[in-house]
Amino acid sequence: MNDTIDRITIRRPDDWHVHLRDGAMLEAVASFTARQFARAIIMPNLSPPVTSAASAAAYRDRIMAALPAGANFTPLMTCYLTDDADADDIASGHAAGIFTAAKLYPANATTNSAYGVTDVAHIMPVLERMQDIGMPLLVHGEVTDGDIDIFDREAVFIERILDKLIRALPGLKVVFEHITTAQAVQFVDSAGPNIAATITPHHLHINRNAMFAGGIRPHAYCLPVAKRELHRLALRKAATSGSPKYFLGTDSAPHEIHAKESACGCAGIFNAPYALESYAAVFEKEGALDRLEGFASIYGANFYGLPLNEGMISLERSDIQVPDDIESAGSTLVPFHAGSELNWRMIPS
Ligand code: DOR
Ligand code: ZN
Repeated sequence: MNDTIDRITIRRPDDWHVHLRDGAMLEAVASFTARQFARAIIMPNLSPPVTSAASAAAYRDRIMAALPAGANFTPLMTCYLTDDADADDIASGHAAGIFTAAKLYPANATTNSAYGVTDVAHIMPVLERMQDIGMPLLVHGEVTDGDIDIFDREAVFIERILDKLIRALPGLKVVFEHITTAQAVQFVDSAGPNIAATITPHHLHINRNAMFAGGIRPHAYCLPVAKRELHRLALRKAATSGSPKYFLGTDSAPHEIHAKESACGCAGIFNAPYALESYAAVFEKEGALDRLEGFASIYGANFYGLPLNEGMISLERSDIQVPDDIESAGSTLVPFHAGSELNWRMIPS
């Protein structure tokens, strides 16, 4: 008797953390996310960043214009918090349905974060207002001090900043984005139901060795950087546990091939084209395919207080070869899993 599962059908999923960029790169990547996901939380780290409701509305229009004809996809916009973020503009943008959430980048933590927050104390009035109106705070959880080892920056952020922040604002909804450590899992597990986390496909698949496998591997470099194997295993356990505190956020972050393969290569992994296939591989290996739907399609929407999607998609067992690179609208991009095989194929409904 063959009891392997060859097809699973789940409610249409959402991506709770993605970089769609702007201009030519937006044209190149929008269709990949729109094909796999019904909705996505759009990161605001453009240059210049999306800091006002007016600029978010204009960016949303540019995303809609970049989608292929007939796409059924809703971008959910976010506000990039700066030291002088305007609580009234953020609250009115939220009330008007323009801002779904606001993003805290510690200044200089990652790509286009130079205008980020230098000290959380500067934005406490904004965070208090967000707590009052039930608007989620999305956190890039790394300290930026050069004297903290890069592999410790997430754990130190929890100790020095996040723990204090949630004690000061116990009702604030917080998504700890793209977690990478066992300490983050422990922190989220022991916090209240208003604290959740997204987990990327790459942090479920690779540990830090991937960056140095036979030479320097820029396509395995992202921020927060992949950690030791014990952390990857803790993330796999959390993602597949069935806990509603963990949900799908790809952090797909495309950069042109020449910007990755460089003496100072950019951080970011472009995983949008095969994101669901990549997650399915993890859930299958962990014997948890029956929990993929919760992680991909239910827990995130519930946390954000949004309705579940109506349609369904399927994943079918089928060997697919991930190309070495993808040419799209004038950009050359190297996808996550480039040159290897995945064993599921996503079929839109
Ligand atoms: O690897 C990353 N790339 N991490 C981030 O936090 C930002 C992102 C990007 O925008 O390139
Ligand atoms: Zn990101």
